[in-house]
Amino acid sequence: EKGNYRHFMQKEIFEQPTVVAQTLRSYVRQIDQSVALPQMDFDLSKINRVTIVACGTSYYAGLVAKYWFEQFARLPVDIDVASEFRYRDPVLEPGGLSLFISQSGETADTLAALRHCKAAGQTIAVVVNVPTSSMAREADLLLPTHAGPEIGVASTKAFTCQLAVLAALAAHLAVKRGRMDRAEEADVVNHLIETPAALNAALGHDDEIAAMAHLIAPARDVLYLGRGPDYPLALEGALKLKEISYIHAEGYASGEMKHGPIALIDEAVPVIVLAPSGPLFEKTVSNMQEVRARGGKIVLISDADGLAEAGEGCLATIEMPKVHPLIAPLVYAVPVQLLAYHVACVKGTDVDQPRNLAKSVTVE
Ligand code: M6R
Repeated sequence: EKGNYRHFMQKEIFEQPTVVAQTLRSYVRQIDQSVALPQMDFDLSKINRVTIVACGTSYYAGLVAKYWFEQFARLPVDIDVASEFRYRDPVLEPGGLSLFISQSGETADTLAALRHCKAAGQTIAVVVNVPTSSMAREADLLLPTHAGPEIGVASTKAFTCQLAVLAALAAHLAVKRGRMDRAEEADVVNHLIETPAALNAALGHDDEIAAMAHLIAPARDVLYLGRGPDYPLALEGALKLKEISYIHAEGYASGEMKHGPIALIDEAVPVIVLAPSGPLFEKTVSNMQEVRARGGKIVLISDADGLAEAGEGCLATIEMPKVHPLIAPLVYAVPVQLLAYHVACVKGTDVDQPRNLAKSVTVE
């Protein structure tokens, strides 16, 4: 079943252009360049608040969505990991949409949080990859991802498919709330349609990343930095590396470095910076300088403009295609997945079945 791939994780990383395209086909209508959601028996334009709950990588997809829902739809968003959400007695007011994100649709904490929100009268939306799962059955609005079965314990293709659905949902909410006109909607749809090609371009750096993995594998600690909607990608990159290579890694918001984590920096700590060029790029460049001044080794993942401006003096660089900010989180997921994968291969760990982990966490 792995075909020509060494591991399921590797196969699933490379499936992303196909499965993201497959997922997007159910959410965008190319004919009139609009976003289309499944039928629902409630009025989305009446939603006044979104509460997002998930675990692990699915939670990071939710963190990206928070930026999008706020920016495009001007909807207030609360987000938490399911194990905290359930027990903190969250305020759930009428008119709220509770959104649960899960590959398996069976994660115990997320499912319990869903039932809690349902009992509190919230409208329940779910983004799930397994259409027959408990979460799928209990939702008012089912938003499936079409990633196909994900076997590797480290989630990869489910994550980018979740982001594809959430981007479409953000645009749809924006349209419904009168925050996005037809021309803007068409523009978003066109950018979404370009995603699979951009994912392919990112995958084209596989050999380079495999070579770079030898520089990262000896590290004891690795830091990941990102800003805005790419900040959750830093968290995701760190989680992937921890899970499969057992190297200690942390993700931080770039601007948060100087508030503590910079104390960790020395020649032995690689810092992976995820920074597409754009209005906030300058700020990230100054964060990189702070790292460099302390001997830190930087791997900069950016587009041609970003690398031209700040690539010099880095330990390594990886060039991503220049894409619309809305699809950058999907594209930047690829290099962090590949880096974790290749570092694990260098270390010889069990990529598909990492120690102590299960694919679906059905206990609390
Ligand atoms: O099936 P779910 O998406 O609900 O699973 C949530 C987490 O257990 C999962 O994302 C976990 O963090 C992965 N191993 C990450 O690679």
